[in-house]
Amino acid sequence: MNGAHGPTTGCCHRHTAGTATAPAATGTLRHEHEVILRALALLEGLGRDLEAGRTVDPAALAALVDFFATFTDRCHHAKEEQHLFPALERRGVARRGGPVGVMLAEHAEGRALLEGLRAAEPGRAAPAIQRFVTLLRAHIDKENSILFALADQLLDDAEQGRLAAAFEALEQQAGGPGVHERLLAGLERLEAAAGVLDVRALPPRERHPRIFSRFDALAPGTGFVLVNDHDPKPLYYQLAAERPGAFSWQYLEQGPEVWRVAIGRTA
Ligand SMILES: [Fe+2]
Repeated sequence: MNGAHGPTTGCCHRHTAGTATAPAATGTLRHEHEVILRALALLEGLGRDLEAGRTVDPAALAALVDFFATFTDRCHHAKEEQHLFPALERRGVARRGGPVGVMLAEHAEGRALLEGLRAAEPGRAAPAIQRFVTLLRAHIDKENSILFALADQLLDDAEQGRLAAAFEALEQQAGGPGVHERLLAGLERLEAAAGVLDVRALPPRERHPRIFSRFDALAPGTGFVLVNDHDPKPLYYQLAAERPGAFSWQYLEQGPEVWRVAIGRTA
């Protein structure tokens, strides 16, 4: 292990979404934000490649644009616009000049940027990618920290449950049965092609088996970037015990929200 890049002390397991205690509706939307952030990380990587003059697979860019049009806009934003925002307005949250109005304006701006991105020649798409990524990250941050916090104060469990059921119905209508799983599997394929394994959406018990199977499928001299929501130090020690001398480990990002580790197969 490289001392300069090895695990630091402490291992923080945080469970922000999908837990038994998370409010039903805002918990779902927060979880979807995590998925959207993964897609944004991939899109940002394509933008960086374009800026550096590297070749980008136009099919990967088109698949990401489709993902944002379907998962982000037709499913996620529609849940907010058709169900969450009206519920908040009924409880006195202002649309005009208030947080709901700001969120709606940002959804419209994102839609326009996405259409621009779809029409852009891939070689010239870097500035539009940067604007879209910046807008959506800031938007998600505002919703998580301001709007959803407000919703959790204003909406009781029964209302959260009604909204969650309405979300489910909307999703089926927008994309048919299993649309969420299909889109997620598509995102995982794009991540795999980009050399990324993001385990944040997986239940904790499934994470190490998934990482080991990805590692064992690597050819010597290749690797992937692991993305997790806590310091994956226990994984380092498990690899050291079970694949001694066969892996490299370098932290690329060390929290506080996201950890990225380049894991390579050396033998
Ligand atoms: Fe959102």
